Amino acid sequence: MEAIIRPTAAAAAELVAQVIERELRAHPHLVLGLATGRTMEAVYARLVRRHREAGLDFSLCATFNLDEYVGLSPADPHSYRHYMNRHLFQQVNIDSRNTHLPDGQAPDLDAECARYERMIRQFNGLDLQLLGIGRAGHIGFNEPLSALFSRTRVKALSPATLAQNAPLFGSGTSMPRRAITMGVGTILEARRLLLLATGEDKAEIIARAVEGPITAMISATALQLHARCTVVVDEPAARQLQGADYYRWIFANEPEWEAYR
Ligand code: GLP
Repeated sequence: MEAIIRPTAAAAAELVAQVIERELRAHPHLVLGLATGRTMEAVYARLVRRHREAGLDFSLCATFNLDEYVGLSPADPHSYRHYMNRHLFQQVNIDSRNTHLPDGQAPDLDAECARYERMIRQFNGLDLQLLGIGRAGHIGFNEPLSALFSRTRVKALSPATLAQNAPLFGSGTSMPRRAITMGVGTILEARRLLLLATGEDKAEIIARAVEGPITAMISATALQLHARCTVVVDEPAARQLQGADYYRWIFANEPEWEAYR
């Protein structure tokens, strides 16, 4: 794992967008794993801008999102399908048939989870998986005690997640209590992982995810097992990292990051 600390949330999102842009330009058929959440909006806004201003081409790539709420229709403004359409898919030249999310309304949810895993395999796996992190340390919706080898399945959302995401639903709509999510094992099979976390309220969980012991209680700690995982944070989210000076030195000196400095 490597941790990269950027001065601001904007600079952190910029770096993540740049990594995705480079991968996409080098591999137009990229199979891209996508994430939702407030943090990712800054990344998608940058990708949209690159598409409009610098011709970044999405026409050949395929995407798979991490998760979707159970019971929400794609037209529901709270669904992750709706989020993706609004923030990215409708604003770039991606073929909507190449955009995949689990179907939270499938009559047989277990069959839907198996279908999603099959689809990812048919595309020869995920090249680059983008990740956010919940305040309690989930990736996707892999809540506490998610098996580190788990596959796509239905998860009951934890009280912490319900509390964190309920404000997005407002007072009128009640938030679903379950979601379909890629498993930790599914995520770990992606060839490259890129996690973005910004803001001081992520500082404690980032320190535990990056430097703490691996535990099924915090699914993000499993990222330490991956051979090519980059965690990008801003200064406020880096505040509790013990090795911050070392991570800054790596970013400032390693040739791999020269183009991003
Ligand atoms: C949801 C998503 C996660 C995401 C998290 C962080 O729970 N299922 O994939 O990482 O939100 O959200 P935010 O960026 O809003 O903090």
